[in-house]
Amino acid sequence: MKIWLVGAYGIVSTTAMVGGKAVEKGLVDTSGLVSQLPHFDGLDKFAPLNFEFGGHDIRDIPNAYKAALEHWEQNRHFERYYLEEVSEYLTAIKASTGTALNCGKGVIEELQPIKVLESEGLTLREIAERLESDIKSFADSDTVVINTASTEPLPNFSDRYHGSIDGFEAMLDDNAKEFASASMLYAYAAIKNGLPYANFTPSVGSNIPALKQLAEEKRVPHAGNDGKTGETLVKTTLAPMFAYRNLKVHGWMSYNILGDLDGKVLSHPENKESKVISKDKVLEKVFGYSPFSITQIEFFPSLVDNKMAFDFIHFSGFLGTRMKFYFIWDAIDAIVAAPLILDIARFLLFAKKKGVSGVVKELGFFFKSPMESEIVNTHQQFQELTAWFQELL
Ligand SMILES: NC(=O)c1ccc[n+]([C@@H]2O[C@H](COP(=O)([O-])OP(=O)(O)OC[C@H]3O[C@@H](n4cnc5c(N)ncnc54)[C@H](O)[C@@H]3O)[C@@H](O)[C@H]2O)c1
Repeated sequence: MKIWLVGAYGIVSTTAMVGGKAVEKGLVDTSGLVSQLPHFDGLDKFAPLNFEFGGHDIRDIPNAYKAALEHWEQNRHFERYYLEEVSEYLTAIKASTGTALNCGKGVIEELQPIKVLESEGLTLREIAERLESDIKSFADSDTVVINTASTEPLPNFSDRYHGSIDGFEAMLDDNAKEFASASMLYAYAAIKNGLPYANFTPSVGSNIPALKQLAEEKRVPHAGNDGKTGETLVKTTLAPMFAYRNLKVHGWMSYNILGDLDGKVLSHPENKESKVISKDKVLEKVFGYSPFSITQIEFFPSLVDNKMAFDFIHFSGFLGTRMKFYFIWDAIDAIVAAPLILDIARFLLFAKKKGVSGVVKELGFFFKSPMESEIVNTHQQFQELTAWFQELL
């Protein structure tokens, strides 16, 4: 199958490329890939472990090997051997120039030097057409598009332009750039061309009525938002324990520190806002009430991709006695995220082949803010995913 990655030169994307090719060549086992669990036997027939990659990016880097090597030199996040074994393949991947429209200061200032379509003086319609033609020149009927680009600020929402696909088309024709964001344009390009789309970031992506309508009309499955890989994964796995035992959670503090490009971009308040909202909402959904909560994400350069989270939970039980729970999550962000890119792509291709269209809420297991689903409990999400798969198979 083919995967088009928006943000192809990022650490999540390049790690997915290295890992995907290493698995395909049989150099490494499939640990970390949810889709390889026995629960999903039979998926191979629809989406084999065989990948071609392409994508968009805005950083001026010659090819995906150079990008992967830059990340590797800073992080040494896997054995160099794997990178060298797939170097020829990655060197041939040259990302198409993308757009950074309304991506905020975090992207524009921290990722320099960048190359973007808008600097060529294109209208909004022309930018959308360029994105479409780039994707079409790579895609076949077994292609999925995934957004793994840096997190954008919240967009300037407009009922008129985002409320229906006619409105969205009018936004393109009116050149109303202040209402468009890069992630919407990529999602539009994918869905319009019948390609399943997933949003691994908290950016808006396909999560507006206009693009949901387009996905229904084109019979395309899509899913998002924001990969659930670290602190939120632990939180939504652990929080149900308090709920099951009828323990009252008074407060939950989550303090996250990370370095690398993602951390740099998120150090800008407008880019960080969508991420904090995405992490913050889950407790209320598990408990049905909102404990006092602190969610912080801070840039800590020397950690690079080694993201850490410190959580403190204050709760009470029988006879009102107050107790405490603490945990530390200490993981390599790209290593927990990259396999999910391959999983999501495989499940979306499976969905398409089974005639599923619109938001696939059963893929909520993979996301912090699952679209059109109130279920954030990881255990329930896993059951929902396996039941959905078995039923369709
Ligand atoms: N565990 C995780 O790593 C994890 C979990 C959930 C979500 N995410 C999200 O996934 C995204 C990627 O994370 P990462 O660590 O790989 O970040 P990264 O900074 O290494 O990669 C982002 C890539 O996107 C490119 N980019 C930025 N804006 C773009 C645009 N408008 N169009 C095309 N390309 C663009 C950048 O040049 C860069 O190569 C981030 O939004 C992050 O918040 C990551």
